[in-house]
Amino acid sequence: MNIKISKQIKSNKGILVLPVFREEIGEFPKTFPASLKGFFEKRVKAKEFEGKKGEILTTYIDDKNLPAKVAFVGFGKKEKFSGKKNRIVSAIIGKFLKKEKATETTIVMPVEIAKYGQEFAEGLKMAQYKVDKYKTCKKQKCPVHEVENLEVVAETAPKNLKETLEKGVVIADSVNYVRDLVNGPSNIVSSDFMVAEAKKIAKENGYKITVFGDKELKKMKWGGILAVNAGSPKEAKCIVLEYNGSSKKENPVAIVGKGIMFDSGGYNLKPSRSIETMHQDMAGAAITLGLFHSMKKLGIKKNVTGIITIAENMINEKAYRPSDIITMYSGLTVEITNTDAEGRIILADGVTYAGKMNPDCIVTVATLTGAVHVALGDRYSGLMGNDLKLRDQLYKAGRETDDLGWPLPIHGDFKKKFDSKIADIVNCDKGSASWAGAQKGAAFIERFVGKNKWCHIDIGGTAFCEDTPQEFETKGATGSSLRMLVNFLENRG
Ligand code: BES
Ligand code: MN
Ligand code: ZN
Repeated sequence: MNIKISKQIKSNKGILVLPVFREEIGEFPKTFPASLKGFFEKRVKAKEFEGKKGEILTTYIDDKNLPAKVAFVGFGKKEKFSGKKNRIVSAIIGKFLKKEKATETTIVMPVEIAKYGQEFAEGLKMAQYKVDKYKTCKKQKCPVHEVENLEVVAETAPKNLKETLEKGVVIADSVNYVRDLVNGPSNIVSSDFMVAEAKKIAKENGYKITVFGDKELKKMKWGGILAVNAGSPKEAKCIVLEYNGSSKKENPVAIVGKGIMFDSGGYNLKPSRSIETMHQDMAGAAITLGLFHSMKKLGIKKNVTGIITIAENMINEKAYRPSDIITMYSGLTVEITNTDAEGRIILADGVTYAGKMNPDCIVTVATLTGAVHVALGDRYSGLMGNDLKLRDQLYKAGRETDDLGWPLPIHGDFKKKFDSKIADIVNCDKGSASWAGAQKGAAFIERFVGKNKWCHIDIGGTAFCEDTPQEFETKGATGSSLRMLVNFLENRG
């Protein structure tokens, strides 16, 4: 998206967007084209437009120097306005422009909106996301319905308006990138696909990348990820990406993402209505890739290592079974009591690896449980860990970006739930599916964390929306926790 800032309307293409706050409904702004005054005042008098949040009133102007179509957009009450509201209203604008097939738009932006340039661009761009990637259409009948040129008319604006808008575009681009990966079906977005994407991102940004396949993982004895992947025709992978945004001496933040390319449940096979969306089970891996997609462009001043653990939970004669005993990368033995509790197993190997590099902290991101969806719904990701400060930082980052997380407690006793008669631990206790399932999933991972500071983000309820998407989302993949993590890395200190 090309962004131009100007003092007065220069473009005559696409749609002209004119924001109106509720309090200002009575006076027609000087910054709007004067020829619209009569129309606007009549509509307001008739109570057809009140400036309510997200309200849209359209008309046309006959002036060759101005865009032909105009949309007055209500921004709600000025005194209650915030970055979060800006993101929501700009998303409503984004969806409106998408419906109108507008590729160009001019917005007259008062300072209250310009103050939140990042949020404005995020909302607009995230809302323009399209899911129909795999529909066939003839080239010439497939126009781009996305804003390509954005003109922002700001009489008084913060000096860094262009930068904040551009930052929002970078973040939204990465969110949309994550959505593409997560919406992509498992036969297309495969483990090889993920490796190719990671290599592309590494090359574009100059990151160091290391990829372990079956051979390397076997040699290093990553028994967890190899057992989970045993029923898949594809190789297991672990992708390690390294970003250096700070001095070499600073210990990296390790982000470990769950990449189950498809979760059939294994021999504890998932039933219909649970299995259909299990291509989403690599959302944690996609978020980790998405972070690397944006970090260099955002100039994040941290060292970050991404550990992307990739496997596919499938069934064949080689697949792991309930009752199997496996030896993890850490050396612990695990009795498999449920092949559907596979995410914690691959993450545990990833966390063991993360622990070896003396990290500042470890953050695990995963569609780990359905239980977190039951506990928190689809607006809050679960935050669990062993370090309150780290968990609070993620919570705060979630609030600041409206990409929310909510703390869940791991009771000390939950660890005992994993005692096994025959091996060191089991991977799933009998009560897990019915109560505190999210925290127990986390409690399993905690066995592998050691003394490291660790927080786990369970995006099992937020990664994929089948119910009511937010203004800046569409049904399907949401990209949840990416904005949270970007903000967290900016403020970790
Ligand atoms: N990938 C699932 C969790 C999940 C379910 C994510 C729905 C997103 C939407 C995970 O591997 C799983 O199957 N978890 C089990 C845990 C149980 C066996 C302890 C679950 O949630 O039922
Ligand atoms: Mn599972
Ligand atoms: Zn899973």
